[in-house]
Amino acid sequence: MSASPIVHIRDILAGKHTGEKVTLRGWVWRYRTSGKIVFATLRDATGTIQTTTKKGVATDAGFEDAQKAAIEASVILTGTVKADERAPGGFEIGVEEFQLVGPSQDFPIYESTVDADAQETLLDKRHLFLRSRHLTNSMILRAKTLQAFREWFDQRDFYEVTPSVITTGQAEGGSEIFEFDYFGQKAYLSQSSQLYLEALIYGLERVYCLLPSFRAEKSRTRKHLTEFQHLEAEEAWVDNAGNMEIQEQLVSYVANRVAETAREQLVALGRDPADLLKVKPPFKRYTYDEAITALRKKDYDRGRDAKGRKRGAIEWGEDLGAPDEVALVEGEEKPVFVMHWPQDMKAFYMHSNGDGTVANADMIAPEGYGEIIGGSQRSTDIEWMKQRLEAQAKRDGTELHLAAYEWYFDLRRYGSVPHSGFGLGTERVVRWLGKLEHIRDATPFPRTPSRAYP
Ligand code: 4AD
Ligand code: MG
Repeated sequence: MSASPIVHIRDILAGKHTGEKVTLRGWVWRYRTSGKIVFATLRDATGTIQTTTKKGVATDAGFEDAQKAAIEASVILTGTVKADERAPGGFEIGVEEFQLVGPSQDFPIYESTVDADAQETLLDKRHLFLRSRHLTNSMILRAKTLQAFREWFDQRDFYEVTPSVITTGQAEGGSEIFEFDYFGQKAYLSQSSQLYLEALIYGLERVYCLLPSFRAEKSRTRKHLTEFQHLEAEEAWVDNAGNMEIQEQLVSYVANRVAETAREQLVALGRDPADLLKVKPPFKRYTYDEAITALRKKDYDRGRDAKGRKRGAIEWGEDLGAPDEVALVEGEEKPVFVMHWPQDMKAFYMHSNGDGTVANADMIAPEGYGEIIGGSQRSTDIEWMKQRLEAQAKRDGTELHLAAYEWYFDLRRYGSVPHSGFGLGTERVVRWLGKLEHIRDATPFPRTPSRAYP
């Protein structure tokens, strides 16, 4: 191969190499041959570009390799960058040397399959579908979102911590927990790192983690996974109101930041970056009572119940379902908070407001993408938490092992402080930011009740 510089497609499309001889490494995205000319569109991690390999212009060995190439073959090619208005992106490569690195025969997925009704096939071939422009854009958006999370926490003096995801207690309770045998002892995959983060604030004051959480939820919806990347934070000396301010600042920063760092990908995914630049604090705050009152005044379809009957208006004490979340944020450009939920609807560790509600808030994304954050001020009252755990076990019909929470109650026995925290579902946020149809496209290898392969 010649000694011309190895470049990325993005730089060619930016006009940095016009007229120069360059070397490109990538994969064949589209391919057509007429016997004397091979037209191959090449892709690398930064973009796509049209290339033309002509018999007589390219080396003989190069032309032979070009003829043997096919969709998704990996290649190294050297040629001259030509500005050409007719070419997509405005540039074309006139190939002189073409080297087939990894041949590809009958690649089972074509870009055209993406929109077709072939979801299951695409999920079976996920390892290959990850090369599509759609998933590449979504993975870049995800990477930029994770980067923005860390930038924000870093600027605010939070320490990143990584507690174990193997536990012997249940953070969120309920039946949605994966149990497994840990050398003869019952153990669980963590539903949330919150309880461990609470232990870490006594030394570090402000901590966050970005770790997988697991939910054995049978829900087959566009917003549920059985494994998701959970961004959780915990803050000493912060109450529920302060906790909500932290959340709206974080979410605004991330939305504004990816509008710059993933602009190209957002546009390709169908999201106008200008939408995300409108996300600025403060977000609207409803109490649970106010949200129910507002929803009861609206006329919207709540779907059907298990018996196929049309659901009536939402009642106080009901959880917000997908149609309710959609109705609540109608016309909103920013997320909204729903605070102070009835205590029986929420986990045992939330601080009591003393009136049957708890000092918590859920953040609901605009445009119907649903809940993206759950957060609360934590109780420091051991007796109250024990009562809540008992009430919860009764509701769920499960056995209660208070002893498993002894270490957690210790945190209240030795230098307890008012504190708060929250958990954000990374894939839910990426889905909202990128306007993704389904949460599974916000993660490379989605885990759902019906799928753990590939
Ligand atoms: O509301 P959740 O259950 O709250 C907790 O786990 C708290 N312990 C967090 C904390 O205070 N540290 O979950 C938090 C967020 C939800 O708002 C949602 O965004 C995401 O985690 N989430 C899921 N994402 C995808 N699939 C699922 N099955 C999810 N369950 C929760
Ligand atoms: Mg929640």
